[in-house]
Amino acid sequence: MRTVLNLLLIIGSLSFCSLTTAQSLSKLLPYPQSVTEHKGIFTVKKNTKFFTNASDTDQRIYAEQLSLFGAPVQFTAKIGKAQIQLLIDPSIGDKYDAYELNVTTKTIIIKSATPSGLFYGLQTLRQLAYQEGSEWLIPSVEIKDHARFGYRGLHLDVSRHFYPVDFIKKHLDALSYYKFNRFHWHLTDGAGWRLQIKKYPELTQKGAWRKSPDWKTWWVGDRKYAVEGEPDAFGGYYTQEDVKDILDYAAKRYITVIPEIEMPGHSEEVLAVYPELSCTGEPFKHGEFCAGNDSVFLFLQDVLDEVIALFPSEYIHIGGDEAAKGAWKVCPKCQKRMKDNNLADVEELQSYFVQRIEKYINSKGRKMIGWDEILEGGLSKTATVMSWRGEEGGIKAAKAGNKVVMTPGEYCYLDQYQENPMIEPEAIGGYMPLKKVYSYDPLNIDLTDEEKKLIWGIQGNVWTEYMSTIPHTESMIYPRLLALSEVAWTNPEMKDWKSFKSRVSNNYAYLKSIGISPKPISTIITQERKVDLENKIIWVSLLADMDSAEIRYTLDGSVPTMNSLLYEEPIKFTATSDLKAQLFKHGEIASDIQEFRIDVHKGLGKPIEVSRFLDGYKAGGKTALVDGLVGTYSYKDQLWQGYVKGIECVVDLGEVQPIHEIRAQFMQLVGPWIWLPKEVEYSVSDDNVNFTPVATLTHDIPLDTDTMLFKDFTFDGKTEGRYVKMKVKAIDKVGAVMFVDELIIN
Ligand code: ACM
Repeated sequence: MRTVLNLLLIIGSLSFCSLTTAQSLSKLLPYPQSVTEHKGIFTVKKNTKFFTNASDTDQRIYAEQLSLFGAPVQFTAKIGKAQIQLLIDPSIGDKYDAYELNVTTKTIIIKSATPSGLFYGLQTLRQLAYQEGSEWLIPSVEIKDHARFGYRGLHLDVSRHFYPVDFIKKHLDALSYYKFNRFHWHLTDGAGWRLQIKKYPELTQKGAWRKSPDWKTWWVGDRKYAVEGEPDAFGGYYTQEDVKDILDYAAKRYITVIPEIEMPGHSEEVLAVYPELSCTGEPFKHGEFCAGNDSVFLFLQDVLDEVIALFPSEYIHIGGDEAAKGAWKVCPKCQKRMKDNNLADVEELQSYFVQRIEKYINSKGRKMIGWDEILEGGLSKTATVMSWRGEEGGIKAAKAGNKVVMTPGEYCYLDQYQENPMIEPEAIGGYMPLKKVYSYDPLNIDLTDEEKKLIWGIQGNVWTEYMSTIPHTESMIYPRLLALSEVAWTNPEMKDWKSFKSRVSNNYAYLKSIGISPKPISTIITQERKVDLENKIIWVSLLADMDSAEIRYTLDGSVPTMNSLLYEEPIKFTATSDLKAQLFKHGEIASDIQEFRIDVHKGLGKPIEVSRFLDGYKAGGKTALVDGLVGTYSYKDQLWQGYVKGIECVVDLGEVQPIHEIRAQFMQLVGPWIWLPKEVEYSVSDDNVNFTPVATLTHDIPLDTDTMLFKDFTFDGKTEGRYVKMKVKAIDKVGAVMFVDELIIN
């Protein structure tokens, strides 16, 4: 009896132990490179002693981070007495921020060759720790960890909307908790200059304020500026004291702050204050500095002098993106500069501008970084490139021997929609759900191993045109930042979407505890399809971000319940069906019902002739209209087909067949100039020569609708034919694009 009891006790304590360990590990984010679980738990006591051989400054930082165990933690002078030890140990090696964390029931030892490595070991420790009553417990575990990339950054545009110092600090906390080490501060842009420059006080007196608090009203309005102190002036700037405060806060989190001063473009606010620095000398006309005027370089050097004095960062970001060079082409000063320096075109003039600034930055002992446009017209070897227009700029730069930070729009732009653009607050466009971000592998590119070493890391970008409130801004950053954290830190073989989803939801408590409002976990169910065109089979996978939720579904039109079919593997469709799905969590309904029409239709895989593609949006080619894969919320998903002017296409069903439905879905998204068609006409034919119209369809949706919308144009009736033609007329707007997918014939 006694042995049985003992055995039960052992089993009991073992399962307790593994349960808590599992709970602790399920908060780790980014996931470490290697984790070994052991039995037992370390308890932090009131008299637990701490030791570090790192510098006093580092010790103070570690003490602050450990204050969650109850302040103040006590560091001892001698290692012998300390249960928790943070040790600088060169033997841990020089992989990026490598550390080892060893928790036993008696001691916690973190080792790293660097102070920042110890700091990241501490973040892992904080994530593992959990509270029971007044005690902090940490399960026994052995972690060997290092970062995949040396540069792990987040960018924030404070020009389009201004954010207070406390906001920045809160996010520096989160950044360091998730092991980011760079904060790229986009301090200047056309919508407001945000950094006090003592030599040019008017930059912030006149260039940091607008009459409208939100960017969009200003942008569609007069795009003028207000004066500091005016009663209805909105905006703000950081004094040099504010900056020092933020830099100190960041340094205590081993985060380097990289300041960005935009040039030669995106500089309307400077040219409003100092119009003489533009090509024509007029305010509100240009966004670019005059590249032929030496006063421009003197001004920028003065500004950079103050920036360099303030920011210890080795790298200074000079922007460089999206300069319109039209004014340079007709400006006598720019033309003279080109002639004097044998510059063939305005791209080379831009390159002259960038290289002249780089030399200045280098002369001050610093290095230059810029958006990938700095490659245009030639770039020096010493500059670092931020690849934002896809990965091409980064690839080109690495091949040329330049260092690269990858921040391609498709995976790293946190200003895009993330759940359902039809119901989310307005965003700049695009569609980048959590899973898309998580799927990014910056080294899945065509470079040699040697060239790949130049891919320094990745960065998420927060452009704030459409983020006029703090809660909205935070919901755009979180939880997607957590996906970027794992892209930046964790090797691909240790990444796992299912585990990540659960770790994301287990991190909401931390985010909320520091005052951040992440976007609630999406309740959207999405579909992914695989199509067997030969055998006319569509396989549908159902996906959800929500952790440990069941997807239940029906195929008979009924409302899903807890007793409906449980989604476990891709569902096979051999005939057109309606799928209704819903999330259930702990026996409760956890989402709205979502409906999917799966059209295993007559046109599937049939020959199709299409005229008038829009170059660049051919996506999967013309057959994509009848491939069974339907367009998503992103018009760039390679499934939507883009057309200008009009569309005419004919599907050959192979033989005359009865037809009861012809349907095509179109998208409207005004931002990128995508509109519904003016008219859709369907017709049928037995011989591909004489077509009989069966439906001419229009709609009454206003052209100025702000939000993304989708519309089916449907013929519903009885006809027959071998050839089915869709003829689409565009609206009367030059350059308007129509996006369509899929053309369904039932
Ligand atoms: C950028 O997004 N214009 C760098």
